[in-house]
Amino acid sequence: MITLTINGAQLSVDKGTTILEAAQFLGFPIPTLCHMEGLSPYGACRLCVVEIGEGPKAKLVSSCTYPAEEGMKVRTSTARVVKARKMVIELLLASCPQSKTIQDLASKFDVRQQRFKQEWETCILCGRCVRMCAEQMTGHAIGYQGRGETRRIGTPFDMKSEECRLCGGCMYVCPVCQLRCTYTDKDNAICNGCVNLSLPCVEKDQFKEMMCYMDPCVACEISGTHYSNIK
Ligand code: SF4
Ligand code: SF4
Ligand code: SF4
Ligand code: FES
Repeated sequence: MITLTINGAQLSVDKGTTILEAAQFLGFPIPTLCHMEGLSPYGACRLCVVEIGEGPKAKLVSSCTYPAEEGMKVRTSTARVVKARKMVIELLLASCPQSKTIQDLASKFDVRQQRFKQEWETCILCGRCVRMCAEQMTGHAIGYQGRGETRRIGTPFDMKSEECRLCGGCMYVCPVCQLRCTYTDKDNAICNGCVNLSLPCVEKDQFKEMMCYMDPCVACEISGTHYSNIK
């Protein structure tokens, strides 16, 4: 067992436990975005930042990937942590302001502006979709492509993947693809095609910005623009 202190509270955890898991056990809230229960830690967004160590050796680390260490002292909401967290949210807002998840984070953490160049990306490279496909759907249909600014999610050689079963798992966990068709609710579905409830109907104005949960839609073949790179 490893004994550490979080915000002054001491606890012992198994070796391999992350700071996030230990903090959650004690009930200290730490916001997360790329992290998702059931998927392996990835450490992409740094929203879960916490401060460890003391004095000049104190540093910020991603709690979802950093393992608890013997004698470690963790602080989850110092001024430095809060500032770093807000900066991460500002960067997310600069990248994908249309994401309701990111908007909610901005609201919760009182981020009222973003000072960076405004983009309208459709992906924050959180990797949830890739891990969902590989770890929960055993699909391995999508992965990362390119480097730096051209890094994106896609299928090998941008070809339609034979491994993709159109399960929709990747879209379901995506924090940016928020405008999914609510396919199981007859009145609120775009076409009801996937549950075979009625004939396809795309003449519904309120759905014009929405994306089909499946891609391509099994009935009307409306394609989710966010996922145009995995067709
Ligand atoms: S829809 Fe395809 S790419 Fe997405 S999780 Fe399912 S198998 Fe993977
Ligand atoms: S498509 Fe969505 S889930 Fe996948 S990396 Fe981009 S933002 Fe994350
Ligand atoms: S097939 Fe696609 S658009 Fe039609 S109801 Fe299902 S998820 Fe919605
Ligand atoms: S939630 Fe920990 S780095 Fe994204």
